[in-house]
Amino acid sequence: MRIENNVVIDKVSKDLIILRYNDTSTKYFEALWEIPEGVTYNAYLLIDDDTAILFDTWKKGLENDFLNALSSIIDIRDLDYVVIHHMEPDHSGSIKTLYERNPGITFIGHPMTSKLMRNLYGISPKFRAVKDNEILSTKNYQLVFIHAPWLHWPETMFTYIPPQIKALMTCDVFGAYTIPKSVFIDELSDEYISSMRKYFANIIGFYKDNVIKNLDKVLAVTKGSIEIIAPAHGAVIKGNLVNKAINLYREFALKTPVNRKIVIAYSSMYGFVDGIMSHVAHVLGDGGFNVSIYKFTDKERASIGDLIGEANNALGIVLGVSTYDTEPFPLMDYIINLLIKKLKGGKPVLLITDYGWGGDVVLRHVKTRLEKAGFTVIDAISVNGIPTKEDLDKIDIALQSLKQALTQ
Ligand code: FEO
Repeated sequence: MRIENNVVIDKVSKDLIILRYNDTSTKYFEALWEIPEGVTYNAYLLIDDDTAILFDTWKKGLENDFLNALSSIIDIRDLDYVVIHHMEPDHSGSIKTLYERNPGITFIGHPMTSKLMRNLYGISPKFRAVKDNEILSTKNYQLVFIHAPWLHWPETMFTYIPPQIKALMTCDVFGAYTIPKSVFIDELSDEYISSMRKYFANIIGFYKDNVIKNLDKVLAVTKGSIEIIAPAHGAVIKGNLVNKAINLYREFALKTPVNRKIVIAYSSMYGFVDGIMSHVAHVLGDGGFNVSIYKFTDKERASIGDLIGEANNALGIVLGVSTYDTEPFPLMDYIINLLIKKLKGGKPVLLITDYGWGGDVVLRHVKTRLEKAGFTVIDAISVNGIPTKEDLDKIDIALQSLKQALTQ
């Protein structure tokens, strides 16, 4: 393995090389998700006899680093094909520069890809649009291009490389936010699973209905014979971890509850909601639930990316929403929108709102939105400032109902 200036070059298997960039400077992935843990961009290069095929590149802005890394392995003029699994610029960022250096390259992708190349990079290189399951044969390999639409763009596709390597390249799917110490992981640790789940929920969550469909299709095409999963973010997965990763992805897509997890998310401007939620967390923790708290106060602002990731496989969610300008506190409004968009319901929710003046308009507004999106609102309680004894009794009854709903 070679590591230099955030660049990792290593062999994945015979004839297949990874070119990885460890991105420690992007603070917000997609200009949206907090990633203090960093992220990698993984491109792969297959050199089979006299055929050289590159799979994806790195993020836009890293063109020079990418070309330097690639040139340290191969003369770019010898590159025959560039396979584009997905046109989002964290993977396609160097295609224009590659084309300028070697106009003879044939780019390979989903039929929609050529239009995106024109629209995003202003180029129209030699392009082979591949049908679903179309094969490209090299001397020793038979590359199968598998359309995997909406994971997470319509033009997404995977490449399967039998017979010797049996690697499946999956672009964003099976990716993770993390900078692994080595190219492969030895185990799917809880920490690594959290990184995968966060990536899934943030990036692919909206399209989760397509995950099972595409996984089943890929398993049929490959006859389940996959020895390596090579994603475009995070670690390469091999051996007996492959099936575990596939099962995990089903768990993510189905939002299967794990670890008796309850996510509590709330805003508190002056401590009123904070006090209520401390009580809620205490009661649920004592009830044997594994509580994760995400708070938005004058002292701290939790990671919304982590929140969405954990909520995806939580048993239930408790939301505490303060009132701001007669509406839900803006950050909670945003979080509720993301929960609706990425999770699409299917979780029990306990909702508690707090207001200073006015009435319970926020409560009704948020409750309606959640129910319309398919969440089950176990109870919705509106508190006016400091909770009264009556409010606290109502909250305790609601917590009993939540615990009952979660243990059924
Ligand atoms: Fe990692 Fe959808 O790009």
